[in-house]
Amino acid sequence: MTGNAPRVALVTGAGSGFGRGIAYKFAKDGVAVVVADIVDKAGQETVDAITSKGGKAIYVHCDVTKREDWDAALAATEQAFGGINFVINNAGWTYQSKPVLQTTDKDFDLCIDVNLKSIFHSVHVMLPAFRRTREKGGPAVMVNVASTAGIMGRPGLSWYCASKAAVISVTKNLSIEFGAEQIRFNAICPVIGNTGLKSKFVGELPEEAFLKTIPLGRCSEPEALTATPPPADIANSTCFLCTDEASFLTGVALPVDGGRLA
Ligand SMILES: NC(=O)c1ccc[n+]([C@@H]2O[C@H](COP(=O)([O-])OP(=O)(O)OC[C@H]3O[C@@H](n4cnc5c(N)ncnc54)[C@H](O)[C@@H]3O)[C@@H](O)[C@H]2O)c1
Repeated sequence: MTGNAPRVALVTGAGSGFGRGIAYKFAKDGVAVVVADIVDKAGQETVDAITSKGGKAIYVHCDVTKREDWDAALAATEQAFGGINFVINNAGWTYQSKPVLQTTDKDFDLCIDVNLKSIFHSVHVMLPAFRRTREKGGPAVMVNVASTAGIMGRPGLSWYCASKAAVISVTKNLSIEFGAEQIRFNAICPVIGNTGLKSKFVGELPEEAFLKTIPLGRCSEPEALTATPPPADIANSTCFLCTDEASFLTGVALPVDGGRLA
């Protein structure tokens, strides 16, 4: 990060996986972090890991499918840190990979509600706050965690893929609508990663077979608090998109995929 003003990020789904890695990376870069999740114990663990190393973080219980939780998350953010610069819509859900005719109404509704309608809520709640941030001259950036599955087909995950394609589409549209206000919107498209959702994505396919489709030959990684490997693939790219160095990047859907889409 550059610039002198303290910066504040809200990361949804920061109790585990990519979201936790993104929260850790922001904290390492000196950004105050609002850890939002529905699993309170896991979210608090992320906060404790950050504050024990001298970083600034608070936990908010926020079910991203509920508008009132977004309202409460913004109020808690403003009370704790005085404003907001970065919103990372990372919380996501999928059903176990299966033939499309076996998918249920619940599978469909949860993919759309958690992966897409969450962004609808975040836009309605956070954009007025972003405008206040811009009036004071601070950066305002939203990063939406989509997927390579939003760009290419993944048999067995049709409705999940559709929800992530919609995430990419809305990200591009928002970047156009708010460009004149210098509010930026980008999407990150991870390839399969070593997180809690991995087994649902892989399905019956042996992991070695999937790895052969990734030129760099490994899964993407969330981040550890330490400086040692594993690398922080998704966190590094997500936090980069929030820096001043990325100030001319908006409307991008960035694959972080070891070459899977090449
Ligand atoms: N792991 C992968 O292979 C992969 C690949 C591409 C994209 N993604 C995307 O990355 C994002 C993060 O997933 P992950 O892989 O780290 O999985 P994860 O299961 O480790 O983390 C997801 C987090 O979201 C939280 N969450 C779930 N529903 C929520 C809700 N309604 N409100 C608030 N929080 C909620 C969970 O409690 C959990 O902490 C998701 O959007 C996912 O679709 C994952």
